[in-house]
Amino acid sequence: MIVDVHSHHVPRGWPDLGWPQAPRLRIDSEREAMILLGDREFRRIQDDCWNPARRLDDMDADGVDVQVVSPTPVFFSYERPAAQAVRVSRIFNDLALEICASERLVPFCQVPLQDPELACAELDRCLAAGHAGVEIGNHVGDRDLDDAGVVEFLAHCASVGAPVFVHPWDMPGGARLERWMAQWLVGMPAETHLSVLALILGGVFDRVPASLRLCFAHGGGSFAFWLGRFENAWHRRPDVIGVSEHPPSHYLDRFSVDSVVFDERALRLLVDTFGEDRVLLGSDYPYPLGESPVGGLIREAAFLSDQARAKLLGGNAFRFLDNFLEGES
Ligand code: CO
Repeated sequence: MIVDVHSHHVPRGWPDLGWPQAPRLRIDSEREAMILLGDREFRRIQDDCWNPARRLDDMDADGVDVQVVSPTPVFFSYERPAAQAVRVSRIFNDLALEICASERLVPFCQVPLQDPELACAELDRCLAAGHAGVEIGNHVGDRDLDDAGVVEFLAHCASVGAPVFVHPWDMPGGARLERWMAQWLVGMPAETHLSVLALILGGVFDRVPASLRLCFAHGGGSFAFWLGRFENAWHRRPDVIGVSEHPPSHYLDRFSVDSVVFDERALRLLVDTFGEDRVLLGSDYPYPLGESPVGGLIREAAFLSDQARAKLLGGNAFRFLDNFLEGES
């Protein structure tokens, strides 16, 4: 079974909530829409964001059996009052279930992560309604993944067995980063790298149960490439140790990463670093920075054994999704 753990949706029926700077959708035709932030055009999208028939056709063309369908991060709304984020999450998550009526489309919900109690409640509601897990942004304003409230939510995910997909978002701006898609090309990998660092140095892996299933987008960002620098700093600079009980390399079996890195040398580094059980096919479908055809890099990677290739294409995702796919079959 081929499983793509990293794709996004935007529901066509997304309503205009009338809040300043809230994400809105302008439907331009049957096949095209524009995501707006307030009055600013953010991203043009196609019907592959919301049309399940189109998604299933594309999956058939690429030989993908199952797709995990996550929210598009610009809708997370963590910067808003929690009550507004609850409303956004509920609407978005309920519309996701309509898109994911096929058992080949597996919905992940979003939660109001700025309020752990409300986030846990929304996750529970969604799991009961048919969601298989949750996608979270990699930070909540200035709070990283070692924030007490976020850790409370992660511990809850472990206790209810919900897999967590961590996606970078809300990248730093400014003149130097707002050219050339630099927020996506440099900011996103750095954001993800920072999140893994916060989980390790903030002692989160020492506190949350090892049963927590975490997967980071985009191959874990720049983390794997700079693990040696991190490891060296941990040993030689006590001010870098934070509260982690062990050096960074100790925690490599506590999370997984997806495969959307576009380069066989990068994929090989991920498999060498995390092991062939902890790299999962992800594509970032249907966006332009996603892999097309989905899974092409893994299928063609010469260094992978057939057994390892099968794990990356689906076996590892099956474990990540755990109870959900077993419940489906
Ligand atoms: Co993505």
